Amino acid sequence: MKRFWMPLVAALTLLGACAQQPRRAAGDDMAALIDTQLHFAARQYQVLARNTPPDVMPRSFEKGKPVTSDTRWWTSGFYPGTLWLTYEYTRDPATLAEAERRLAILEKEKHHTGDHDIGFMIFNSFGNAYRITGDARYKAVVDTAAQTATQRYRPAMKSIQSWNSSSRFQSPVIVDNLMNLELLLWAAQNGGDAKLREIAINHADTTLRNHFRSDYSSYHVVDYDPETGEPKRKITAQGAADESAWARGQAWGLYGYTMLYRFTRDPRYLAQARGIASFILDHRNLPADKIPYWDFDAPGIPDALRDASAGAIIASALLELGQYAEGSERTRYVETAATMLRSLAAPPYRAALGDNGGFLLQHSVGSIPHGSEVDVPLTYADYYFVEALLRYRRWYLPKG
Ligand code: GLY
Repeated sequence: MKRFWMPLVAALTLLGACAQQPRRAAGDDMAALIDTQLHFAARQYQVLARNTPPDVMPRSFEKGKPVTSDTRWWTSGFYPGTLWLTYEYTRDPATLAEAERRLAILEKEKHHTGDHDIGFMIFNSFGNAYRITGDARYKAVVDTAAQTATQRYRPAMKSIQSWNSSSRFQSPVIVDNLMNLELLLWAAQNGGDAKLREIAINHADTTLRNHFRSDYSSYHVVDYDPETGEPKRKITAQGAADESAWARGQAWGLYGYTMLYRFTRDPRYLAQARGIASFILDHRNLPADKIPYWDFDAPGIPDALRDASAGAIIASALLELGQYAEGSERTRYVETAATMLRSLAAPPYRAALGDNGGFLLQHSVGSIPHGSEVDVPLTYADYYFVEALLRYRRWYLPKG
């Protein structure tokens, strides 16, 4: 879809929804929406499975063709993760069989040290597999991966190094890296070494100190001197500018500190998550359908591209943050997440059955500065969409 039509279509969709549902309380329509979307996911992912050769993972669908990656790419855990989440709801045997096949090719990444992304790769896939099945073989993969992650820990920086040193960076840490801490915290909490938790907390505290501005927006990259641990530069790689608020970076920060509060009950992490939520929800550039532009300061707003992946991550994070809030604050988080899920579940975001290469969502952005994955489907948009649907069901639908 041409970018100048998107705000118009989104506004009309929203108006249509409002016209049909005057003053409807959040949640009334969500049970049916969740059921429909999760059954759709099982059917649509059969198309994605057919489009994906057995030895690789899906990555996107561009110009009418599937784009795949080998399992070393940072997104390799999301496809199997989405299959497991979908299976959790539908109990569809074909979804289970495909999930198991994909774990078999992914398992070797438990030794992945090429970057910080082992949490995305292994926890979202094997972690869900273990949670759903209780199979100890899956837990063993998670435990090994958590140990592997510590190899990138730099004691002088009190952080896990994200990307390798290069002509551009000395020892970079990106805000996204908070997401990989879930692997360490979970492993520590489930029989692992206390050192895993210590590393995760050190990293979270260093990021809290160095990545955020006074308005709770975050820089994308902080480049450290690995000898002294001093932050040297605060810049962007995937955002619109060094001082801008790249939408997915804000989403990772929100999700990250909410998750950190779950494991630690440290009020500083909760305060940080609440601050980031306020930055996002109060932002003048957050559209009415609540799916962010790819950067809150993107040039060309309101004609800038949206990022459905940022919307899905934020929706999932707000639903967890709602668990730690009360009254009007909780209502705001949950109702905003419901608005996001309604938006993502409809055109122009949700694809039609058989379209979009078998991905669920359209209109995500990988990296505009690199001209990579611009306005396309992405595995992680689908993953957090499905996770948010399940979270809404678990925490906010009446039981029974
Ligand atoms: N961690 C990479 C991204 O969010 O694009």
